[in-house]
Amino acid sequence: MTKPIILTGDRTTGPLHIGHYAGSLRNRLEFQDTHEQYLLLADTQALTDNAHNPDKVRRNVIEVALDYLAVGIDPAKTSICLQSHLPALAELSMLYLNFVTVARLERNPTIKDEIRARGFGRDIPAGFLCYPAAQAADITAFKATVVPVGEDQAPLIEQTNEIVRRINSTAGKHILPEARAVIPQTGRLMGIDGKAKMSKSGGNAISLSAFPDDISTAVKQMFTDPNHLRIEDPGQVEGNVVFAYLDAFDEDYAEVEHLKEHYRQGGLGDGKIKKRLEDILQALIEPIRRRRAQMSQDQSYVFDVIRKGTERAKERTEATKQEVVSGLGLFQL
Ligand code: TRP
Repeated sequence: MTKPIILTGDRTTGPLHIGHYAGSLRNRLEFQDTHEQYLLLADTQALTDNAHNPDKVRRNVIEVALDYLAVGIDPAKTSICLQSHLPALAELSMLYLNFVTVARLERNPTIKDEIRARGFGRDIPAGFLCYPAAQAADITAFKATVVPVGEDQAPLIEQTNEIVRRINSTAGKHILPEARAVIPQTGRLMGIDGKAKMSKSGGNAISLSAFPDDISTAVKQMFTDPNHLRIEDPGQVEGNVVFAYLDAFDEDYAEVEHLKEHYRQGGLGDGKIKKRLEDILQALIEPIRRRRAQMSQDQSYVFDVIRKGTERAKERTEATKQEVVSGLGLFQL
């Protein structure tokens, strides 16, 4: 039986953090047994808003790959591949750009939000505006039917499927499959300051290679309920970072519910719940940090993993590109 094909990836702009772990990495550990999984080190997509900083994009290829391996991605099951080394992705992107309008790209809610967040104003890099077509190329080149992405990226999958339908209808045959977005149950984890999104640049993240002291400090700094001044006071669970993280990482759901109840009523101090969370995070991160440190001593192994994964991905993506080119009836020598 052939397994369904799944593609996800990360822009190589920085090492990953526990928000990535909760939202995507741990799901990928399961997918690698049930699906044919490709993980894309999206360095060319990273350039769409980091053209001024190619150094950062290059350096983080290895960092993200190390994160994958350290959390337990098995290169024998999952192909870790490098976007810039898969020419078919760039070629399909160029073809697909003829099947989308600028107006449609500008209307894509993901792009709209990201343009606002980045403060591009009128100076939007063309590559950035067009990255939905490039992401459609990524997804279709692998013929992925399952694409796990954060909720904020769901419109990219919609736009991918529009392109798929246009290509298939122009070719007059079913070349490309449509893809389905899979939104993880744990939505985006908030930062330790309680702000919407955890990010390294926002300085509110806990990295997957954090040292015990960093973890300890981060938990101490976590935003809880500013009105919960004395232990006896009733406390608020919503928007409370400690409870958000217990929801994400504590496997004893019943106990977490019990603690929430107690906290709401009053009589449960921040120190107690923080201690519980810290123990959980220390236990989660310790083996990841150890494996990561070990593997970062052996860069040739990591290079090898990426090279092999990219080779496998090349076969697949070249074959699809050929099908699209001949399906569209373009001239061939
Ligand atoms: N857009 C994704 C991110 O920001 C990275 C990515 C690139 C991706 N190509 C993809 C994800 C294809 C899923 C499928 O992290």
